[in-house]
Amino acid sequence: MKLNIALLAGDGIGPEVINEAVKVSDAIAQKFGHEITWKPALTGAAAIDAVGEPYPDSTHEVCKNADAVLFGAIGHPKYDNDPSAPVRPEQGLLKMRKALGLFANVRPTFTFPSLLDKSPLKRERIEGTDLVFLRELTGGIYFGEKGRKDNGDTAYDNCVYTRAEVQRLAKKGFELAMTRSKKLCCVDKANVLETSRLWRETVQAMEKDYPEVEVSYEFVDAVAMRLVQWPNSYDVLITENLFGDILTDEASVISGSMGLMPSASMGAEVSLFEPIHGSYPQATGLNIANPMATILSAAMMFENFGLIEEGKAMRDAVNKALEAGVVTEDLANGGKAYGTKEVGDWLAANV
Ligand code: IPM
Ligand code: MN
Repeated sequence: MKLNIALLAGDGIGPEVINEAVKVSDAIAQKFGHEITWKPALTGAAAIDAVGEPYPDSTHEVCKNADAVLFGAIGHPKYDNDPSAPVRPEQGLLKMRKALGLFANVRPTFTFPSLLDKSPLKRERIEGTDLVFLRELTGGIYFGEKGRKDNGDTAYDNCVYTRAEVQRLAKKGFELAMTRSKKLCCVDKANVLETSRLWRETVQAMEKDYPEVEVSYEFVDAVAMRLVQWPNSYDVLITENLFGDILTDEASVISGSMGLMPSASMGAEVSLFEPIHGSYPQATGLNIANPMATILSAAMMFENFGLIEEGKAMRDAVNKALEAGVVTEDLANGGKAYGTKEVGDWLAANV
């Protein structure tokens, strides 16, 4: 297969982890006879510094014309203490999601047998956890009308959803559940919010099309609790933008290793793959960042092209590295810590 991949390394450790994902993907391409053309483009603080905006039109062109986007991380400390800076790296991310129509954010949480004791939760609570959040990504309070009135003393952010937006996300949820253990949980706040009542009514109407899927409806506050009590009772969870933002951060600590969790953002045309961790500015340039989440995101990208064996080869190599102790300092447990590049080299040699 010939693949054209937009490469948005971004800020902080982004370029370093992206380099290793390219290295391992190229090794996979060579092994399975594919040809990948990487198309680098600017994003985040790096793009603000270079051209004054975090998601320039030139980058959008590259992404739109690619088969997929592989994304590193964005964010820079110089913006952190100034929430009202006129241009911020995060705006680039939101603009990109909207412009590329990336409406479904897929965030899996699973455990690695060799790392069960690294979780802040007890082993018996998390053993067997294998859940996926589908977070709606281009609607809700993130994108509703926002503003100030009364001379700035009143602020508002409107939460808006259309039935069609809920349907397309829920459809992905039902389809995903059908390929897994056929359990779907719709997370909402239908006891209070009108948008949540629309979500619930829309999903309920779709149940008849997927008779094998067992659907549950749970309030977001209860899910926040059950997620740390019995994470292994969930399979596929669908939810709106802000609830999904919060719950997926909560879920990310279950595996005990933020540096390992991949994600995908799916659109009608192009899809984007990225690690869930941020730009980790303190580690920039030190060759200590864990590249595995980005490499597993590349594995999701291959799988999304239907290249299942290729994705599996990458996942197997990561598991082998974890078992062999070929890990960066975040997972070294006081033992030998490998560098970002060395972990990438090892994985490229072992896929
Ligand atoms: C995420 C991030 C973004 C979000 C921020 C950086 C805008 O937290 O991808 O989860 O809130 O969606
Ligand atoms: Mn978030």
